[in-house]
Amino acid sequence: MEKGVFDTNRRIRLGVWGLGRGASFFEACAACHLDVVAGCDYNAHMREAFKRQVPDALVTDDAETFLNSDIDAVLLATFCPNHADDAIRCLDAGKHVLSEVTAFHTAAEGVKLVEAVERSGKVYNLAENYPFTAPQMYIARRWKEGLFGELMYAEGEYVHEVRSLAYTYIDGVPVEPGWALHHWRSWLHSHFYCTHSLGPIMHITGQRPERVTALPGNKTLAGYPPSKSGGLSSVAPSLIQMDNGGLVKNLMGGTTNDSHIFRYWGTLGAAEINNGLFLRLGGGGSTPKLPVKADWGELTHLADKMGHGGGDFFVLYYFARHILFDKPAFFDIYTAADVTLPGILAYRSCCENGAPYDVPDFRQQADRDAWRDDHVAPERPDVAQGSFPKEADREVVAPFNRVIRDLINNALAYRAYVDWRQVLDDMENPAEILSTLDRAIECAPALRETIFEAQAIIDAYPQSEGARALREMMEIAQADSVLAEGFISSLTDERTRLQRRFLTK
Ligand SMILES: NC(=O)c1ccc[n+]([C@@H]2O[C@H](COP(=O)([O-])OP(=O)(O)OC[C@H]3O[C@@H](n4cnc5c(N)ncnc54)[C@H](O)[C@@H]3O)[C@@H](O)[C@H]2O)c1
Repeated sequence: MEKGVFDTNRRIRLGVWGLGRGASFFEACAACHLDVVAGCDYNAHMREAFKRQVPDALVTDDAETFLNSDIDAVLLATFCPNHADDAIRCLDAGKHVLSEVTAFHTAAEGVKLVEAVERSGKVYNLAENYPFTAPQMYIARRWKEGLFGELMYAEGEYVHEVRSLAYTYIDGVPVEPGWALHHWRSWLHSHFYCTHSLGPIMHITGQRPERVTALPGNKTLAGYPPSKSGGLSSVAPSLIQMDNGGLVKNLMGGTTNDSHIFRYWGTLGAAEINNGLFLRLGGGGSTPKLPVKADWGELTHLADKMGHGGGDFFVLYYFARHILFDKPAFFDIYTAADVTLPGILAYRSCCENGAPYDVPDFRQQADRDAWRDDHVAPERPDVAQGSFPKEADREVVAPFNRVIRDLINNALAYRAYVDWRQVLDDMENPAEILSTLDRAIECAPALRETIFEAQAIIDAYPQSEGARALREMMEIAQADSVLAEGFISSLTDERTRLQRRFLTK
């Protein structure tokens, strides 16, 4: 057994429920005194991968068997909108819970979860990991020392385009059956995924969100399944007032610019995480702004040793410390509620054209009572029926999820070359286009093949949502040029020309 990071021989028997994301924690678990002894997932391919990694563990697709097994704690990484109910099942079975984000999907579920945690006497932590990177931990430390003063304004971003995950699991394996949509990534609005951007701001400043407002954004990207609200293809900025009167812009969404920029403006100084960590110190708007080296403070030796970039390791570290030494983690059930509710209410606000909502504090009985019957949630599509009519020939539509996954990946790789080619002469380093072109050449045969497969599905059910999504991605791929004779050789010829041009410069 690996020697752990805590000064005790006590170990925690951990079960992992949901073996997609849940399977990414193993190495750090052992160091944090967490022995993975059981895993549970509906997906056979995930159970097999888990079994290979942890051969002696109990592996099952049955939650009952899993929860009745000899485990002390559960790492809960099941479907996002199911976390509250699943966490309550674990707590009622006498297990500590480390729940993936977000904590719950409706305000009513939030109240139920808070009360289940209190009733159980067990440890509940939210596995919000973004606050625990070196730059965020560095700012948190300096913030507590008073270097930045009081929060005036902050911005957090979790902008992540994940359109193929509407059709596959996180490991890229298509959802089965092949016409069905992913349980929640096919429709959940981006506002609901609000914790990676808001969590670090709460952790650094110690402020609680009190009031939230958001306007609807109506533009979405190609290739996503239909969703009244725009789903994860939406752009979802909300404005949050914190309990010290400071403001926060919380930005989520799936756009053409993945981004995780954070800006913190205090009354005495500012910090910015954007390709490095920069501080502006001295209390004025134009005082020197300079890069600094970030670390995890007194925990740096552990983070370095784990080599995980921090986040996941520290989530496990704080959870185990909470269980072993009763030292509460930052994201206990109350802070978990504080960081989850602004997303639920921002979605509501944007449906009501910006109406502001007070964020209830579930530590307070009156707030719980006011929200315990509030089940408002977005309408869900029938993910089992998926993208085709009920009577569709199952053999024809069975390959759909694989085809659209490949079409998305190959189309985006090719289109990156096409669009960069247009601005080649403006590039500071034009030779950088070669890697984009190489990727396009690599994808070209598969892209052609996938377009033929997509066309067969479109021809069979032209009015279906599946056909619409495929057509949208064919447009991104510029399918006519891809299918033209000599397409692949035109790319390789261009590579030779460009290579020659860059060599002669
Ligand atoms: N913090 C992060 O950086 C991060 C990264 C990825 C995912 N996540 C979170 O982790 C969670 C899981 O994410 P994922 O990417 O693996 O997505 P997912 O929703 O596709 O995976 C859930 C897995 O749980 C299984 N499952 C669900 N309910 C079950 C049940 N009752 N019994 C047995 N198996 C069940 C499913 O078969 C599936 O494999 C999500 O809530 C997501 O928000 C967090």
